[in-house]
Amino acid sequence: METVVRIEGLEKTYDGGFQALKSVDLDILRGEIFALLGPNGAGKTTLIGIVCGLVNPSGGRVTVGGHDILRDFRKARSQIGLVPQELATDAFETVWRVVNFSRGLFGKPRNHAYIEKLLKDLSLWDKKDEQLQALSGGMKRRVMIAKALSHEPSILFLDEPTAGVDVELRRDMWELVRGLRANGVTIILTTHYIEEAEDMADRIGVINQGEIIVVDEKAALMEKLGRKELRLQLDQALPGVPDTLDGYAIELSEDGFELVYSFDIRQEHTGVAELLRRLSEQNIEFRDLQMRQSSLEDIFVSLVRGR
Ligand SMILES: Nc1ncnc2c1ncn2[C@@H]1O[C@H](COP(=O)(O)OP(=O)(O)O)[C@@H](O)[C@H]1O
Ligand SMILES: [Mg+2]
Repeated sequence: METVVRIEGLEKTYDGGFQALKSVDLDILRGEIFALLGPNGAGKTTLIGIVCGLVNPSGGRVTVGGHDILRDFRKARSQIGLVPQELATDAFETVWRVVNFSRGLFGKPRNHAYIEKLLKDLSLWDKKDEQLQALSGGMKRRVMIAKALSHEPSILFLDEPTAGVDVELRRDMWELVRGLRANGVTIILTTHYIEEAEDMADRIGVINQGEIIVVDEKAALMEKLGRKELRLQLDQALPGVPDTLDGYAIELSEDGFELVYSFDIRQEHTGVAELLRRLSEQNIEFRDLQMRQSSLEDIFVSLVRGR
């Protein structure tokens, strides 16, 4: 697939010396939904800020649709829509004017029919003559999305789009994102809501402390790094993990009533049978058991912790 955003050796050191990005390489493919996952402070907003021309890189190179973001800024930027993490609004302007003005900034000819459809899709049409200051937080966020899409970009960045957003807006937003993707728009979103990446993304990149730790297709990531967990609810609480289970990746819940054994799903011998045999030898009885496949969240936590 064609690369639309190419990031090579990208570095950012902020004034004061903090290194927020350490030689990041990343290719975004045309038409994909790419989720950039990382804890707070990992460098997600910095990365997006550089690609969108809001933050100066300290080193490396970024091209958007083949255009260098420094040498060919306008061409690169015109292809991008950005829904920033922070709500920044022109309080006294109306929704209609703000969104149309934003389109004009990119040198696009007026297209009231397009903006009307956009506002209708975002359930903003009946608010079009209201000043932004009169809108709720959720409505302001919808306006940010409308602004980002006003110039019909082929690449959309959404920086933590659903942090602190109500359920309805979140649902609308994902519907919109899916619709955009169906029309060939490339979507890059950052989130620390892992279920979101799990639901939406084609590929996932994990960033931690300014470094990309892993990039892969979602399914491959889950298969490669996935683990399973066996949970056993005991009849009687144990004071600690029994000595005979030494060497097992096993944990006991705080109340002593649950044993949790996690193992690599690709192993030939999972150790489950042996574990159950040893428990029975020790007369440790259990009432119930569940097997659970590790989620993307577990994978994410173990990746970030492992550093
Ligand atoms: N303008 C700035 N000046 C100095 N440090 C900054 C600035 N912006 C961000 N940082 C630092 O860079 C790191 C990455 O921040 P950011 O890119 O916002 O991370 P994320 O979006 O993943 O939470 C953080 O440690 C943050 O404190
Ligand atoms: Mg951020």
